[in-house]
Amino acid sequence: MFFTAAASLYALLAAVGLGYAAPASVNHGDGTFFTPGLGACGYTNSSTQHIAAVSKQFFDSFGGGYSNPNDAPICGKWATIHYNDKTTRVQIVDRCGGCVGPTDVDMAPAAFDDLADEKLGRIKITWSID
Ligand SMILES: *[C@@H]1O[C@H](CO)[C@@H](O)[C@H](O)[C@H]1NC(C)=O
Repeated sequence: MFFTAAASLYALLAAVGLGYAAPASVNHGDGTFFTPGLGACGYTNSSTQHIAAVSKQFFDSFGGGYSNPNDAPICGKWATIHYNDKTTRVQIVDRCGGCVGPTDVDMAPAAFDDLADEKLGRIKITWSID
């Protein structure tokens, strides 16, 4: 009886464990744009590419630490960014030292343009790592 119950419990836990997928956390922050070049990840990107820099806090804490920023776990990840009814995707290639909020994202103009007119300068975005 005990063994049957224990086996059932383990089966249940295994099923729950296998079926569970943590939802990607959704961040709310400010979106801005900048002219990319050689970023903290060691990639050289341009204004026409869909890339972004995340805040220093986000960059430094994502997936553990790093000694060389080129090796930061966030480098090369993709994020989906929403603004009102618009959406864009960017590859994270840089660390935004000038960002104030921990969930702020500084984008290449090509990505910002998908979301809003550059005249707005700063927009309220919702985003998550893919
Ligand atoms: C950013 O630059 C790197 C290195 O040149 C390149 O591999 C990557 O594809 C670029 N990202 C995008 C989104 O173009």
